Amino acid sequence: MKKLQLFLIAILALTNTVITAQNKTANVLVLIHSDNGGTYELAKEIAKGIESEPNVRAVIKQVKASANAKLKDVPVATVDELKTYDGIAFGSPVYFGNISTAMSDFLSKTVDLWTNHALEGMPATVFMSAGSGAGKELALQSFWNSLAVHGMVLVSNGIRGNEKIDKKIPQGNSVLGTTSLASLKDVPRPTKDERYLAELQGKNFAKVALALKGTFLKKEIAEKQQTSINDVLKEKNIVLPQVPKPAGNYQPFVRSGNLIFINQVALKDGKILNPGKLGVNLDEQKVKDATQATMLNVISVLNEALDGDLSRVKRCVQLTGIFNTKDDYTKHADLMNVASNLTVEIFGEKGKHARATFGASSIPVNSSVEIQAIFEVE
Ligand SMILES: Cc1cc2nc3c(=O)[nH]c(=O)nc-3n(C[C@H](O)[C@H](O)[C@H](O)COP(=O)(O)O)c2cc1C
Repeated sequence: MKKLQLFLIAILALTNTVITAQNKTANVLVLIHSDNGGTYELAKEIAKGIESEPNVRAVIKQVKASANAKLKDVPVATVDELKTYDGIAFGSPVYFGNISTAMSDFLSKTVDLWTNHALEGMPATVFMSAGSGAGKELALQSFWNSLAVHGMVLVSNGIRGNEKIDKKIPQGNSVLGTTSLASLKDVPRPTKDERYLAELQGKNFAKVALALKGTFLKKEIAEKQQTSINDVLKEKNIVLPQVPKPAGNYQPFVRSGNLIFINQVALKDGKILNPGKLGVNLDEQKVKDATQATMLNVISVLNEALDGDLSRVKRCVQLTGIFNTKDDYTKHADLMNVASNLTVEIFGEKGKHARATFGASSIPVNSSVEIQAIFEVE
């Protein structure tokens, strides 16, 4: 009897540990502006350091889209998403002993977050790419000023890692955050030591973010947002189907920057719903039902692309409906309204989109409809 009790206690303890570990994953945003890529290079080292800690994930985003080839695939962050993270590492070029104009512009849009205390208690750390390094400490300090106004917990470097760096050349070490002296070209920049310091900074920051996770307001706000879309689905009795598997050499979705591209047909429970051609073996209602099933597939794939968090949808950009109809059919818009209405029903204003519709003489796997969708997401 005693043995059984001990066994049950051990199982309970193990389950508890697994649940705690699952709940305790910290998500850290590495938010940058970079003109020439120097700040981005440091950001990658910071992210590497963050991810070297168990149960901490890092995502690099930028404050505005960049035409620079090195940066063009880095997604752009929204102001609103900042509150959903467990910590933010901010990176910017040094501009005249200050943060860059783009970073400053972005921060100037965070007034709502400030007045709602949304970032209060969230850990922050900063890093910068400088030219000669003139005024780098002033610039780091100016970053801290803005973040202190938000009530963020500022995580410094101190002299962490300094004992290991090469003192014979100028390095971007600073107690306030790592920098890189990009215009000093005697060695490639960031130097290996600047990269090392950035990685250490990331690693230390990850520990703080994990330790403080759940101790500040952001959790409450993020959950509220997430449940609102889930509530809409529940309220309207909308059940998302299983994500259809690709039937060829393609991906169910592709994310490029902040856009997600999805194409679906009327697959339902493993087979095509109402296959065929409108005006031959199908009436309009049958095609409308197939359109509803197709759009649900699209949203299901979108849900997967966003790790189950549809509140990250910023807007539906465009829907394209292709219908298998007889040559003289002209009321494609009526059919497509089913998909459009469903999108607006779920996402409200954010669901309003541009649209195109076509008639086709055939559609793969004899589906009566195919929908192509583009969503902008956080
Ligand atoms: C408007 C402007 C002002 C700058 N001011 C400074 C400065 O005060 N100190 C410094 O070391 N570098 C300064 N720089 C150089 C940038 O900080 C440097 O090129 C940096 O590496 C750019 O980072 P990025 O590669 O991420 O764009 C300035 C650059 C610009 C465009």
